Amino acid sequence: MDRLNSEVKKEINSLDFTTKEHSKRCAEIADKVASYLGYDEKDRSFLVNAAAIHDVGKRFIPEEILNKDGPLTENKRVIINKHTVYGYIFCIKNEVLREYADVARHHHERLNGTGYPDKLTAEQIPEKIRIISAIDVYEAVTSPHRPYRDSVSHKEAVEILKSNVERCELEQKVTDVVIKVNGIELERKERIEKILSVGQYNDKFKIGKDPNVNEEYKRQANLILKKGEWKGISSDIEVSANLLKMNYSKHQIIMALKQNSPEIPGYEKGLQLNYANAVLKEASRNISLSKGLDLRR
Ligand SMILES: [Fe+2]
Repeated sequence: MDRLNSEVKKEINSLDFTTKEHSKRCAEIADKVASYLGYDEKDRSFLVNAAAIHDVGKRFIPEEILNKDGPLTENKRVIINKHTVYGYIFCIKNEVLREYADVARHHHERLNGTGYPDKLTAEQIPEKIRIISAIDVYEAVTSPHRPYRDSVSHKEAVEILKSNVERCELEQKVTDVVIKVNGIELERKERIEKILSVGQYNDKFKIGKDPNVNEEYKRQANLILKKGEWKGISSDIEVSANLLKMNYSKHQIIMALKQNSPEIPGYEKGLQLNYANAVLKEASRNISLSKGLDLRR
């Protein structure tokens, strides 16, 4: 991710696999939260880097304790909890990481004073740390990368976070934002997955057999076209190919591509049409190659 500074990147890459993946996903969520809250570039960059480095103290905890299967003994729990203080000391000693030292130390503090290591209470915990605590819990329960625990769905994670808020551990306001940005992301992924599966649907049932299913795909396609949520050239080609199969006109697809291309690096405004045409050409070619269909019209 662009906003990660090289020192933070280096440190998270040297962590064990589970912690490294957790750190990266926390940074991604932090980026969306910062954007949702309208943070300026400086605060956004701070939040992203802080979310990435918050568990750096885990490098000093033996991996067999860190990623142990099943419930932890009290002794081992005490050892793991020390990653906060270790992380703080590690960051303090480093000129670049120093500004994240408090986040490393306090991301397990809870508003009602039941957290660790210093049992801080609500007014003593800065907003950015409260945000990272909520992100940390969300990512930990939904993570696909924890060897010792199954991940839960977004819906179940929302319930877990809400019960944390009810117990006055996490703050309601920031927790709601964390839930919201993850919900938006999930919805987007589901829509795109659905539309990308049109190709498989076509192969299985032959195009047009079931008008209801076709209608549903058209509805999904319209949502994507409207919301401008296409990201990446390969997905543009794939989505365009599926829209062609669904008999969207080339003009409609080009308009959508033009509208969505400003975020693609290297494609300034005047180049949007060139981009859209290139993508469409490629999409038509892919269909012709895979199906032997004639799409010249
Ligand atoms: Fe932690």
